[in-house]
Formats: sequence, structure tokens, C-alpha cells
Amino acid sequence: MTLSITFDSTTNYFHLTNQSISYIIELLDNRYLIHRYWGKSVRNYSGANRLPSYKKTFASFQSLEQDNQSFEFLPQECPLSFMGDYKEAGLKLRLADQSEMLRPIFHSYNIFNGVPNLPDLPHARATIDEAKTLVLTLIDSTSRVQLDLFYSIFKDNNTIIRSSKLTNLSSDEFEIQHFASATIDTLYQGQQLTSFYGSHQKEFQLQHTSITHGQFRIGSSRGASGPQYPPFIAISDLAHECYGEVRALTLIYSGNHTELIERDQYDQLRLQIGLNPEMFSWKLGPKECFSTPQAVLVYSDAGFNGMSHQFHHFTRHHLLPSQFKNEIAPILINSWEMTYFDVNEEQMLQVIEQAHQLGFEAVVLDDGWFSGRNSSKTSLGDWHVDPIKFPNDLTPLVNSCQQKGMKFGIWFEPEMISAQSQLCKEKPEWIVKSPYFPAYYGRNQYVLDLTQKEVQDWLIQTLSTFIETYHVDYIKWDMNRHLVENESQLAHFLPKEFSHRYMLGLYRVLNYLTQQFPNLLFENCSSGGGRLDFGMLYYFPQTWLSDNTDGLDRQAIQYGASYLFHPYQLTGHVSAVPNHQTNRTTPLQTRMDLADSTNMGYELNILKTSLEDNHVIAHHINRYKSLRQLIQTSRFYRLLSPFDHNATAWLFESEDKENYYLVAFRNTYSVSQTGYLLRIPYLDDNAYYITSNGESYTGSDLKNAGLFISFEKGDYQSYTLYLKKKRENH
Ligand code: DGJ
Repeated sequence: MTLSITFDSTTNYFHLTNQSISYIIELLDNRYLIHRYWGKSVRNYSGANRLPSYKKTFASFQSLEQDNQSFEFLPQECPLSFMGDYKEAGLKLRLADQSEMLRPIFHSYNIFNGVPNLPDLPHARATIDEAKTLVLTLIDSTSRVQLDLFYSIFKDNNTIIRSSKLTNLSSDEFEIQHFASATIDTLYQGQQLTSFYGSHQKEFQLQHTSITHGQFRIGSSRGASGPQYPPFIAISDLAHECYGEVRALTLIYSGNHTELIERDQYDQLRLQIGLNPEMFSWKLGPKECFSTPQAVLVYSDAGFNGMSHQFHHFTRHHLLPSQFKNEIAPILINSWEMTYFDVNEEQMLQVIEQAHQLGFEAVVLDDGWFSGRNSSKTSLGDWHVDPIKFPNDLTPLVNSCQQKGMKFGIWFEPEMISAQSQLCKEKPEWIVKSPYFPAYYGRNQYVLDLTQKEVQDWLIQTLSTFIETYHVDYIKWDMNRHLVENESQLAHFLPKEFSHRYMLGLYRVLNYLTQQFPNLLFENCSSGGGRLDFGMLYYFPQTWLSDNTDGLDRQAIQYGASYLFHPYQLTGHVSAVPNHQTNRTTPLQTRMDLADSTNMGYELNILKTSLEDNHVIAHHINRYKSLRQLIQTSRFYRLLSPFDHNATAWLFESEDKENYYLVAFRNTYSVSQTGYLLRIPYLDDNAYYITSNGESYTGSDLKNAGLFISFEKGDYQSYTLYLKKKRENH
């Protein structure tokens, strides 16, 4: 695709396009940046979509000659208060003289190849051939404030990256009170709104609602992106999984965020995403600058599946550490749901032996391995191997794995500190707490004050020494509570700066460790998907999606999460029944098929499984080894939603479109309904597809007439089918 960013000085339009999408901004009166269009690519934009400007009694205007030109109607790139707009502003400052008024006007623009580098924040990656960036600079010469708006467009992806930067050109300090990463103004024409809600063990619950007048706002103030409302919002025109227009936003950030949609009295819509102003402010000294996290804007004219393909492609090619782009993760067995805190050398050596026999490629020692950690009440921060549980240190485990050609992984919760710990006795001032009140507990623990460089350095040192000593191959980085207090005992900055400073501190640690140990596989976790976002994905290629491993509940969680994340970026484990979270019993085959639709592993006691089960497990692992290349590199299509049906179905398509893997689940069994008719709209009409059942169908048949899939009797059954494209038609 040809990538171009142009400015036409006769029409005053900036046009970003890759021939697939367009983003158009008008420079009005050589002063203001007006949003004109974001969607499927257009040629020779004429401005015919502009609303007629009309004169309304309450609308304010700047000049008597232009009394119909009001910011109440003009769609803006960075709306401000006190200019007659009356909707949510994209930027709010308090200047040194307490004034909050700002009037930046257009100053200049710059276009460069590649993407901006945000040194302190995770950000999109691209070579100079893969992307182009437009920077629009506005200056308020009275307050001496510079505002830079960044827009990047990619050759191979329908994503626009937006972020903003403020520079203080004055000699006084001022306070940023609100600074959105992106605001987009458009017209309401019956679109629906899509977002997610969720909780621990019930992440990514999909919700479609209508857009009413007023504001709809979601976000997080937990100091983490959170499971409650992940950073995502989309509007769509009659969209479905397979068709319709979708415009979706997310953020490359892992802390507090907010997403807003506002429908005004004239049926205009404002979308906004960025740092949560409830929990954010920033003092900016003379000559200092501040950059917002990047917003990711995806346009799709192929429904929500099309939107997800853009997100999946963007994260794989422009966000993940590049060394993991094509990397296959080891199939692991994790000790958590096996024995919880009750781990020891003898048992783990047996697990390694058994895991080797069954075909696993890695063993992960989860929580419980360090300094007296027998429950969630103690020891976080004392990252020394427990001498009672592991009298010979970890060396026998690491050696045993290595001898067998397996990898060894271990669990950490680096950002946390237990009240009962040596570290807490020595460094009580490292706990996040107000100087005036006792700190709140969450899962019996406190949070380390990562706003402080000495704490960041201690963490870097502790983890680096551990990694160098034990040569571990994998670290599961957990975070089992979120922030409450947002205050540092040691710092002298505004409390509302705390949570963003915490994130910058964490990102500094992650940057260091991932660069120092580029081949170490880190898994992101916050009691499952409590901090699952594009910010963490920049450092860690995979995330433990949910602490809920149940064969039914996980279908919805995996389905929802796939809106943003490719299934292989999410880990899923086969666990024991009755399930530890729900007490539900689902068939082993169903749990295996569900985990296979992710980056698959196990989390049950393989020292207690029957010989028969071991045979099934070994067979399953072997099968996944031949399947995972397809899963990892696939294009993923959702076909049947568990949010609407008593069933779930999805499809993996190989990169060359030669192989397909269909997975479906039917939940409660009903005597009158034996299966589902599934249309597979993504096949080649004229090609023949041979199934693993030995049948042969044309693409047009499966697309239009569909495939009736029957399930076995009983609840929670699964169904899988391979389809292989036949080379020659017959
Ligand atoms: C929460 C994680 O999600 C679990 O998988 C496990 O690692 C526990 N923490 C350990 O405390």
C-alpha cells in the first residue's frame, strides 16, 4: 500500500492515507484544527460531509463577521474549554496565575518517516519504511505553551496512532489537569457503543448499548488498567462480527485511564480516550515537556472481526518485542492449581520427571517458593528461595529441567510487599501509603512505591541477580492487588501525579529487564486479566488471561478478550474438575479444546492423574504441538457469541489461507436442539475444502448454506474440525 501524508495549501486539508484508510484534518483560518474524516480511504476529499454552519442563539462565536462559525459545531482535533465548545475538553491546564484559559493556535507542521519514540512510555514500533507521522504544532503565545499533536499511519495496517505533547515555554510552572491522548468528533447517526465490563475471574464481558444524549464514561482509578473496564471503546454502524463499520479505540498504557463518549444536543458525538483526569495532574516546570500515552485508533469496514484483525496485526508487528513475533512458547505445567503454596523440592522433581514423560516443554514453579511463603499473608519482597521447601536451593530443579531439554519458569510478584516480611521491617517507607493514615491491605499485602528511583533500582537489582543466578527461562510477573492510596511517603509531588509516576517507574523497570534479558519469556498477570492492555504487551508477549479456568466461563472471557488480543497472546490452562473457581465439572476434551484456542498449558496435579488420563494428556500435548503454529500465526474469526447463544464458535485461518481449524462449544444440553448451523463466511467460494472427517465441501456451500455441527449428548460439549483447501477443483 502507498503511504502518504499530504497538506494541500489550496484546500487546507491534511490527509493521511495508506489507500485503505484516510484521516483528514482541516486547518481552518490558518489557526484551528478541525476534524473532517476518519474511515475507509477517500480520494480527493471535497468537504461535502461538512455540517452546514448555522446560527443558534446560544452558540458563541469569535467574530461578528463569522457569527455562524462556532466551536459548538466544529469537530475538533483537540477541543479546549472556554471556547464555546461546552463538551469535554481534551486538555485542561491551570497556569501560574491560576487562570485556566488557553488559546493555542496553529503554528507549523512536520512530517517524518517512522513513528515517534516515547522514551518513558510503551509505544508503537515501526521502521522508517513502515509508517509516517504528522506532527501538528500549536502555540499559545500568551501563556507560552506549545501543544504538539502526533498522528502515525502504517503501510500494512488500518491503525492510526495518536498522542499529544505539551511543552512549557514560559518561565513559570503550570499544572496539567487533563490531557487526553485522542479526541474524535463525529456525527451520531444511530451508531451503537461497544465496551467491556468485568471483574476478577470474569474479565472481558462484552456489552453493546445504544448511545443516548449525555456522557457515557468508563475507565479505571485502580492504578492498573483493571478488569472492571478494560481500555476499549468502539462505535459501529449496524456492525456484526462479520460486516459493518467499526471505529475502535484503545490505549498503549497500563495505569488509570478513561474512555468517554458524549452525544450532544445537535447529535454530534465526541469520543475520547486517555489518562483518567480523576486521578491525574502534572506540574510542568519551565522547558519541561509531558507526553500522553498513545491511543490506538482502528477503523474496520469488515465488522468486529475486521477490527480485531487490525488490532492483532498491529500488536504482533508494531508492539510486541520483535523477538517474540514468531516465537513459539513452551507448553508448560504450572504448579498453582496443582498444590497452591504447598510446593517443595521432592514434589517438584517428580513433577519435572512426569512432565517430561508427558511431553511438556516447561515447568513453572508458581507462588510459594520463597522465604516462608505458606499463605498469601507473608514474605512478598523477600525473594530468597525457602530453605525448608528447597533445601538444595533451586539448582536441582533448574538442572533437572535442563538435562531433560525443558525450560524452567518461576513466579514473582515484584511490585508487592507483605507486612510480614523482612523487607517491610527494613524499608517501611517503601510502602505506598499516606503519611497520615494506615495503609490499606489488598490480598493481605501492600504495594511498593515505584515512584521512587531507589525502589525501582532495588527491584531491577533483585530480579537481575535472581535471573543471572538461576538462569530461569520464564517469569510470571503477577500483580494481585491494585492501588488505593496514591501517595508516597518519600516524595514531594502532587498526590494526583502518583499513579502516572508509578507507571513510569514500572515501565522503567520493565524496560531495563526486557532489554537486559531479551530472550527471557515474561508472562503478564494481575490475578489473570487485571492489567491486560497494550502497554504491558509492549514488554511481555503473553498474559494469563483469567484466574477462572472453568470450561464454560472461559469461553466468554476468551471471546471478549479476542476483540483486542490475538488468542496466542493469551495463555489458557487445562485444569482439574470440579473446577476450583466454579465447582463445575466439564469434560476434559472441552477444557483441552478451549485451552488449545490460546497459548496452551496445564495447571493440575499430574502426579495424581490416572494412567488413562496421562495417556490422553500426552496425546493432547502432541496434538497441540502440531496445531500451535497455525494458532500462533492465524487470523482469528469469531463465529458464534457466547454472549448471545448457548454456544461459542471460532475459526483459525492459516496465513496462506490453506488450513482452517474450527472450534465450537455447546453449553447446556437440550433434547430438542442437537446442534448449530454455522456459516463460515471467510472461505474461498470456488475452492474445495476437505475436512478431518473426510468430507469435501465448496467454500460457497459452507459460506451460504452452512455446516450443521452436532454435539454429543450432555452439557458442555465441544466440537472441532480441520479444513484443508484442496489445490485443484473437482
Ligand atoms: C494470581 C494468579 O493469577 C494465579 O495464577 C497465581 O499465580 C496466584 N496469583 C499466586 O498467588
